[in-house]
Amino acid sequence: MKKIIIAIDGFSSCGKSTMAKDLAKEIGYIYIDSGAMYRAVTLYCIQNKLFLDNEINISGLERHIKDIHITFKIDEKTQRPNTYLNGENVEEQIRSMEVSSKVSPVSALGFVRTAMVALQQAMGKEKGIVMDGRDIGTTVFPKAELKIYVTASAEIRALRRYDELKAKGQNIDFERILNNVKERDYIDQHREVSPLKRASDALLLDNSLLTIAEQKEWLMKQFETVIQKLK
Ligand code: DC
Repeated sequence: MKKIIIAIDGFSSCGKSTMAKDLAKEIGYIYIDSGAMYRAVTLYCIQNKLFLDNEINISGLERHIKDIHITFKIDEKTQRPNTYLNGENVEEQIRSMEVSSKVSPVSALGFVRTAMVALQQAMGKEKGIVMDGRDIGTTVFPKAELKIYVTASAEIRALRRYDELKAKGQNIDFERILNNVKERDYIDQHREVSPLKRASDALLLDNSLLTIAEQKEWLMKQFETVIQKLK
């Protein structure tokens, strides 16, 4: 069967990764979380003291960017991909509140995006890939055969994030998470390079009131429709 590229873009914490991961598993495609790559660069900056308070040392990061190697490996137990930064599994660390609150300015830097987009395009060369992010359907794979633009209200997304962190034992104030979600939405949509926007040929999915099962069913239908057309 002909393989395609599936681009899933949307706001933070709207369940993109869960749906992209499940879809990839179901159809036997590779799943790539492009946000994890920007998070890994941010973790590198924190570890290498490239933040002074909340200010990123841009020229310092520019000098280091070629030393940052990001890869994904499937976890034997969970069958889900883990993110590796220079050979170290950083899947847990890149989900911390510290990384979440520092990632937006890092992902807004042109040279960071150029490096990540090149890596993402190389990963999609053979197709058979589901990639989620902010600019996958617009910049990384403008010719992707299936593009989905996901949205949900900020409050619902903050609640999902709150539940996720709580389940991991992290006790974080809901208001703080909501502010972080809103702040990231604003930066993601208003940055100069590759702002988050719906590609003109992307299908819109508002999942505020959908269950994971309903969402999955909708997604599989879209996938099958595209595959049928290619036959
Ligand atoms: O999806 P996420 O919350 O893990 O993404 C982390 C950050 O990276 C978020 O602030 C937006 C940014 N990002 C991006 O700019 N482009 C992408 N393709 C994916 C994520």
